[in-house]
Amino acid sequence: MEQNWFNKLPVKIIGRNVRCFKEATSTNDLAWNEISLGAPEGTAIFAGRQSKGRGRFGREWHAPEDAGIWASVILKPNLPVEKSSLLMIIGAIAVCELVRDDFKLNASIRWPNDVMIDGKKIAGIIVETKYLRNSIESAVLGIGFNVNLNESEIPADLKTVMTSLAIETGRKIDMKDISRQFLVYLDKWHQKLTNANFSEITGTWQKMSGVLNKTVCVETENQSLEGIVIGLDSYDGITLKIGAETIKLSPEKVTSLRLKER
Ligand code: BTN
Repeated sequence: MEQNWFNKLPVKIIGRNVRCFKEATSTNDLAWNEISLGAPEGTAIFAGRQSKGRGRFGREWHAPEDAGIWASVILKPNLPVEKSSLLMIIGAIAVCELVRDDFKLNASIRWPNDVMIDGKKIAGIIVETKYLRNSIESAVLGIGFNVNLNESEIPADLKTVMTSLAIETGRKIDMKDISRQFLVYLDKWHQKLTNANFSEITGTWQKMSGVLNKTVCVETENQSLEGIVIGLDSYDGITLKIGAETIKLSPEKVTSLRLKER
């Protein structure tokens, strides 16, 4: 990662200001620090490696040196609290679209925001938010995108559930090109958010979904459920049909979701 990779990016907001670090505990920590120093919206922070990358539900995120995009983007959206899930949704759409359009791979979104290829996770997104009364004061969108990880860099217990672009394409990917493209795609979807094109965002997210109308196994903190996904809503979650019953679960409740193997 080098700062000059990001010169002359064709973006409006996301990536107009970029900072690169060789190493970090977590780029999300660096981003919160930048926010406290007054960094503008769209500032993107990349690290070559992270020693304490974090995922959703307090999980650790494995981020080996120069093998992926380990980045955080500062957002200061003018959005009410109930629309905050759109932040992680634009992150997932941007990465899914990049993988589909630039690499011609069959990527989809596993609700709410994992980007998947053939049942294996290639990227994950975490959004941390600071609220002020009923609106969002600032947020950090953290993205972990496995780019050049090879099989040996994937931890043994994750081999069946995790992949990378290099594994899927069979070639080494240019980190400069893909890091720039990530910001360009995110900027495109961020503009739609700024322009309040909410239905285009949620419609695209639903179309990219690999779980709608599929049978899934879901874990919550205290139960395991199996049902058909009959609805995906960015505000109040996933609707499952379990026998004659339907239930709704919010993203905060669902700790794991996978397609039922046939
Ligand atoms: C998930 O799938 O649970 C989200 C993983 C997000 C990981 C990224 S890596 C860059 C940024 N910094 C972090 O500490 N986490 C995110």
